[in-house]
Amino acid sequence: MKHIQFTFNTKLSTIDTLILPVNDQGVLSDALPKLPQHDALTQLVAQLHESDDFSGKTGTTLLLIQPSGIEIARVLLVGMGEADKLTPKSYLSALKAAAKTLEHSGAMHVANTLIFSPPPAHSIEWATYHNSQLFQHSEYDYSHESRGEHTPKASKLAQIIYPCDPQRAAVQQGQATAFGMALTQDLANMPSNFCTPSFLAETAVELGEQYGYDVTILEREEMIEMGMGSFMAVAQGGDTPPKMICLSYTGGEKNQAPIALVGKGVTFDTGGISLKPGAAMDEMKYDMGGAATVLGVFKALGELKPNINVVGVIPATENMPSGNAIKPGDVVTSLSGQTIEVLNTDAEGRLILCDALTYTQQTYQPSKIIDMATLTGACIIALGHHVSAILGNNQPLIDTLIQAGESTYDRFWQLPLGDEWDEQLKSNFADMANIGGRAGGTITAAQFLARFTKEIDWAHLDIAGTAWVSGKDKGATGRPVASLVQYLVNEVKA
Ligand code: BES
Ligand code: MN
Ligand code: ZN
Repeated sequence: MKHIQFTFNTKLSTIDTLILPVNDQGVLSDALPKLPQHDALTQLVAQLHESDDFSGKTGTTLLLIQPSGIEIARVLLVGMGEADKLTPKSYLSALKAAAKTLEHSGAMHVANTLIFSPPPAHSIEWATYHNSQLFQHSEYDYSHESRGEHTPKASKLAQIIYPCDPQRAAVQQGQATAFGMALTQDLANMPSNFCTPSFLAETAVELGEQYGYDVTILEREEMIEMGMGSFMAVAQGGDTPPKMICLSYTGGEKNQAPIALVGKGVTFDTGGISLKPGAAMDEMKYDMGGAATVLGVFKALGELKPNINVVGVIPATENMPSGNAIKPGDVVTSLSGQTIEVLNTDAEGRLILCDALTYTQQTYQPSKIIDMATLTGACIIALGHHVSAILGNNQPLIDTLIQAGESTYDRFWQLPLGDEWDEQLKSNFADMANIGGRAGGTITAAQFLARFTKEIDWAHLDIAGTAWVSGKDKGATGRPVASLVQYLVNEVKA
């Protein structure tokens, strides 16, 4: 992906394009700094509003080429709507529209003043973060040929200049987040005949080499030996070797317990013997969206180098039906020693995560664990595609994550946990069943994981609805990399 250069310069002598926020009265914001030819620009905008050529409604844009009386090659007007009614959502949609318009222009060196009109109660820093993240991220494009290599887009955009004092931390975080999201998207968009557990492992090893962190990979034989009976039961149906991918980033004090990120890495979910219906089954290549998120966050960590210790653990496998696959009713013993009756082989995510959660606690003694998984279709039914579900056993941890999700607009919505739901997992043949019926499917899935995280502060993110969009823009979104990076950056400050 092409790296955009973000700089700060109040003089604006070298620009070829100026982006200007305009409200629905045809007025430039008072918060703008004094720009070259400020009065001429103010007049131009007022005229265009008067003549009904630019309404200033949110999300509208008008690209003016060599406007008369102005010595800048291009001026991009961006509608921000009613001045004091701006929300994070409308601000971000205006920003997206601006980036989209410039994609098909000759703009290379762009002064961006959108950072000066954030929504009420939001800072210039907030706006700078989002501008940098969004402009860098708009350079992302997936094509089968360029998987992971990123053929450059036709866009000429090379430099964004903010006419203000340096907001370096916000720019760096925005840009690193965009790089992380692009990796996450690439991995989830990639078909499962390329993005195998081995490919995820190689990606982790390459990240480790590039940024200097430790990566270890566990193989099938070792994991069987160690007693990961639940993870290995899912993996036994496939010929593709499963992997447990472990990354360790040590930016903090040596003796500081790490924060652990655990991501579901099912590189293709057929459902196993409890086979899924055929419609849209192709989309189950993104069932490694949790794993891809962990790798995306590690990419961003490598770029940002915050003073914090983080481990990433990814159980990666296919879920396949075969002569050797697990069958409904089979009982397996997890690494924790608890036994599980597999009533539905399509509830495989929790079966691989439970062993990864136990392994993470035994190996790294983390201070907290956050797991992320495209775990339940029920989550899409409950919450749709705009927020990820968050559940867990520690309210301060959940609140902090929700807060990070609000500021990055990569949001979470909390669902409850409780004994009532836990009882749905009762089995007559083992310590628990792997399904709890249709009612509250996202909650019972989390309730299952809760049985493996009793001794640790834990939060679970169900990203089934947010990691991917279906329909005409079908593809991976890179969520929830942004909120996790924000969370980790906040933890450094805390
Ligand atoms: N990977 C799926 C969940 C999923 C479904 C993610 C649709 C994204 C879109 C998961 O492994 C699964 O199959 N879950 C089952 C659980 C059920 C058998 C209890 C489900 O949601 O139907
Ligand atoms: Mn499944
Ligand atoms: Zn799955």
